[in-house]
Amino acid sequence: MTTPAKKSLKNIVILISGRGSNMEVFLEAATSGALAGNIVSVISNRPDAQGIITARNRGIATTVIDHQQFATREAFDAALADEVAAHNPDVVVLAGFMRILTPVFINRFLGKLVNIHPSLLPKYAGLHTHQRAIDAGDKEAGATVHYVTNELDGGPAILQARVNIANTDDAQTLACKVLEVEHLIFPEAVNWHLQGRVVHANQGAQLDGELLPPTGAQWKHPRGE
Ligand code: GAR
Repeated sequence: MTTPAKKSLKNIVILISGRGSNMEVFLEAATSGALAGNIVSVISNRPDAQGIITARNRGIATTVIDHQQFATREAFDAALADEVAAHNPDVVVLAGFMRILTPVFINRFLGKLVNIHPSLLPKYAGLHTHQRAIDAGDKEAGATVHYVTNELDGGPAILQARVNIANTDDAQTLACKVLEVEHLIFPEAVNWHLQGRVVHANQGAQLDGELLPPTGAQWKHPRGE
């Protein structure tokens, strides 16, 4: 009797809606061998997403599923879920995917869905996170990688990075600072997932068997910043 070949490389599907700078970091990590998986597909809900052109130019399989062609959110989510499932993903990476997903999609990939959000969750779920942090007089902002559940930006946090808010920062300068740390923590957290170090357990995210706090693990900059 022959045993089936063991699948070695894990499958990564990336969903985007726009610029795709986080996706690009994943593409670069894959090229340099720093990613614990293969990017098998990049999917956008917007035909004009810059990131789709970037991925295509790098020879990655891309698909556009235009949400405007569907009568309901659920119909779009069902089509998106079928396309994602066709790639047999070990992780589905939401890299600036700006559509709210319904249970039709989320329940099919629960435990494999990872998002990055530009705030120090649980603070500032939703939009305009940088302006909200500035308006509140916060001294720190940041980004959080988290598992996705049916609660908007409410799934268990995996990894979080902080940046200082200067008096001179506006929403745009702060977004640039936060984006820099997004690019550091996102592939790291996804690697943890692919290596089985972090899992979406019933009680929350567990790293190396330990339950993480609601803010996730805290990123320590390699340069000690
Ligand atoms: C990133 O800042 C990401 O955190 C944010 O969109 C930007 C996408 O940039 N995501 C969200 O706000 C999700 N709620 P990118 O397309 O250059 O990666």
